[in-house]
Amino acid sequence: MIKVDIKDSLEAIQKVAKINQGKELKYSILTMGCQLNENDSEKLCGMMEEMNYIKTENLKEADLIVFNTCCVRENAEDKLFGKLGEVKKQKEEKGTIIVIGGCMMQEKHIVEKLKQSYPFFDIVFGPHTTKQFPIDLYHIICDRKRIEDILDIDGEIIEGLPIKREDTIKASVAIMNGCNNFCSYCIVPYVRGRERSREPKDIIEEVKELAKQGYKEIMLLGQNVNSYLRVERENKVPFEEYEGVNSFATLLRAINKIEGIERIRFISPHPKDFTDDVIEAIRDCEKVCKLIHLPLQSGSTEVLKVMNRKYTKEQYLNLVEKMKKTIPNLTLSTDIIVGFPGETEEDFVNTLDVVQKVNYEQVYMFIYSRRVGTPGDKMENQVLEEIKHERFDRLKALVEKQIALKNKQYVGTMQDVLIEGKSKTNETMLTGRTDSNKVVVLEGTDELIGKMVTLKINSEHMWYLKGEVME
Ligand code: SAH
Ligand code: SF4
Ligand code: F3S
Repeated sequence: MIKVDIKDSLEAIQKVAKINQGKELKYSILTMGCQLNENDSEKLCGMMEEMNYIKTENLKEADLIVFNTCCVRENAEDKLFGKLGEVKKQKEEKGTIIVIGGCMMQEKHIVEKLKQSYPFFDIVFGPHTTKQFPIDLYHIICDRKRIEDILDIDGEIIEGLPIKREDTIKASVAIMNGCNNFCSYCIVPYVRGRERSREPKDIIEEVKELAKQGYKEIMLLGQNVNSYLRVERENKVPFEEYEGVNSFATLLRAINKIEGIERIRFISPHPKDFTDDVIEAIRDCEKVCKLIHLPLQSGSTEVLKVMNRKYTKEQYLNLVEKMKKTIPNLTLSTDIIVGFPGETEEDFVNTLDVVQKVNYEQVYMFIYSRRVGTPGDKMENQVLEEIKHERFDRLKALVEKQIALKNKQYVGTMQDVLIEGKSKTNETMLTGRTDSNKVVVLEGTDELIGKMVTLKINSEHMWYLKGEVME
């Protein structure tokens, strides 16, 4: 694996830290994307804090504003442009440094639009150039010339950047980056580059360190986590086996052994790569949560084919059956797109049929959004907006009915809940999550925070359950 040398980034961090010393400068960051994007933001925060910037949630008092963008759907773009409009005046009046990073910056037409309509930004950088951020910032501070730092190369592996995590109990760990699947609706492979995995040793050591710091739950991240190290194996890219790790299944088994870690989750696996060794590892590893996210996207074999998903409706359902048989207490969540080009009423009914049959714990529903540069965008049989919305509403109604029913089944059961902290809406209550990722609210003292407790579920509400500690 090719690891990037980050010596110049660390040097730039030191130089900026020196310039900023004693100035009490503040930064704000807006994270607009998925959990990988959040993980990148944690690295950006780590760097900014080492450069002596102090975090503020109030954009208006920030001296440095970072937008970490996403482009998976159109509304992400609208959000960025809206926010840029908001900070224009602040830039003019205070000279606030405006930095735009993340996936959207990898799209040429967007950077062009920025230059034309929002030319006041200072730095743009893409997901492959996160390590350039402190270097670019140093140059901006010194000579105030706008910098575009976007690479078209496929990104290598970056290790060793500082990180400032949002949470003290749950930590995300990216295990791979990029995607080789090219689902025909999706922009991610174009902006995140080719699939590449981190060295087993770097991941295992990071998780051990997190365990030492008191973290209890690890979320393994990647666009296609269950093909971890597959590209390397197939292309004979050298990597070093460490503690028996040479695949996703062996990675789960190795992390399961790390003392102090109580829960392991991962997103997103791809159904086509759900091999038996992974299913068995989930069954055998007591720390691996039994809620598995299994993106369906569509329940129609025809649509799946055009989407380039590489499985049929039947193969997906067979996989679900096999997993349910092998893994006791399995629950499933999924992603679904409605209104992909050419989707007929019959296709959509097939999606409803799969949802009906699988009975998911949670469904993330998306209206198809055309992405420039993807095959889906060039298809002529786009679905009318009103049909997309009508189908979305029907799917949502079905999902909500299923979830309401499922919630009822929780009442009276005992659940292992990892207590995450005080409830955001009610300071006197605590909040935690079940293995199946359901939010549970309970009464209890602060000593319970970070502990796994068995709760009796007393009542259910659409988005959370209420439980009590049993003595
Ligand atoms: N790699 C992950 C997730 C990628 S993006 C996976 O394969 O599951 C997260 C979700 O956004 C996808 O699962 C898909 O449901 C949705 N999505 C991606 N592109 C989209 C588009 N153009 N329009 C609508 N939803 C989209
Ligand atoms: Fe996009 Fe498909 Fe890759 Fe997921 S697997 S990131 S949906 S191309
Ligand atoms: Fe968005 Fe990039 Fe994640 S496009 S969904 S932030 S990988």
